[in-house]
Amino acid sequence: MKTILVTGGTGFIGSHTCVELLNQSYDVVIVDNLCNSHSEVLNRIVSITDKSATFYEVDLLDRVALNTVFTKYQIDAVIHFAGLKAVGESTHIPLSYYHNNLTGTLILLDVMANHGVFDLVFSSSAAVYGDDNSAPYQEHFPLSSTSPYGRTKVMIEQFLQDAFVSDPRWSIALLRYFNPVGAHPSGLIGEDANAISTNLMSFITQVAVGQRKFLSVFGGDYPTADGTGVRDYIHVVDLALGHIKALEKLASQTVKSIDAYNLGTGQGSSVLDVIQTFEKASNRVIPYEIMPRRSGDIAESYANPQKAANELGWKVQFSLETMCRDAWNWQSKNPNGYHS
Ligand code: NAD
Ligand code: UD1
Repeated sequence: MKTILVTGGTGFIGSHTCVELLNQSYDVVIVDNLCNSHSEVLNRIVSITDKSATFYEVDLLDRVALNTVFTKYQIDAVIHFAGLKAVGESTHIPLSYYHNNLTGTLILLDVMANHGVFDLVFSSSAAVYGDDNSAPYQEHFPLSSTSPYGRTKVMIEQFLQDAFVSDPRWSIALLRYFNPVGAHPSGLIGEDANAISTNLMSFITQVAVGQRKFLSVFGGDYPTADGTGVRDYIHVVDLALGHIKALEKLASQTVKSIDAYNLGTGQGSSVLDVIQTFEKASNRVIPYEIMPRRSGDIAESYANPQKAANELGWKVQFSLETMCRDAWNWQSKNPNGYHS
């Protein structure tokens, strides 16, 4: 049985990935400092899988504590989710973002190498495609970013490329997520309402439960079919399964590599498409108002996911309707997230 260390494993995407790892009989060790997640997630993971993940409340910046975890377990591979992720916040406190995300990753890489662990799956983002490329995005496109958050992803990808060139024992998958939404179909885990999130689906669900009167649609004059922004929404369970495929690839290859993969559906949906689909899935009306564009937004972003299909054997299963249904199921069962 393989043991996977998951940094940020109590977070939104991390918790769904831990469920899929346990379902596929991996042993899971989580390190998370709980700065944007809740320990109740651990009980919910047990309810879903009948198995438990081992948890350490550890900050990646605490090298001694991290080293202790690696000393206790024979880790086969690491999935590295831990990081700060709010784009707007990153423009206000950029140095904290650089310190947490970059220094945290450097310490993790050093501790991994000291313990002979070289298989790594890293959470990157479609944010690395910046605003100079046009959709559908392909992995070989030039990278840039419009925010300090996005720049931490571009920089970490560069760290990892350099580490790989310097030491061929590294085996790395850079997973570039598009727009993760939805929740586990059980309604037991999802995106915590108390965590910092400025994403569309969080605002839609807040309107649906009456915490907000209406949704502000940022821009109705984009050069898209209905004038609103287009994104590639992906069900968080599909995303979680992409990590298992990436781990399988790292474990199976004899010649080590570093590769980037887009994890998206390849389909763009506008803000109005999402509102209408959510209304159908939840049987609720979502009042909205068209507002000025949000600064830093682009008209459209969607993936070409062919490389992940060809090389990882990964394909999405869930539709936008299922994403909306599961997001609503989670939100209505847990209106205050894990504090409900
Ligand atoms: P999340 O905030 O729910 O999870 C991140 C977890 O990392 C949290 O539990 C937090 O407590 C933990 N963490 C942060 N800094 C830490 C540190 N120094 N030490 C230990 N733990 C720390 O976010 P998420 O949505 O699950 O995202 C996971 C990863 O995927 C992040 O790296 C994020 O940048 C990336 N990503 C997310 C999205 C998205 O829309 N959710 C899109 C693209 C990429
Ligand atoms: C945001 C981040 C991006 C990150 C991505 C996935 C910004 C500027 N970018 O992008 O770096 O990789 O999340 O986590 O924050 N919208 C509304 N009303 C709202 C909220 C959003 O109309 O209240 C619109 C946006 O203008 C956009 C779409 O909905 O057209 C999706 O927005 P969001 O969920 O924030 O994702 P991204 O803009 O793709």
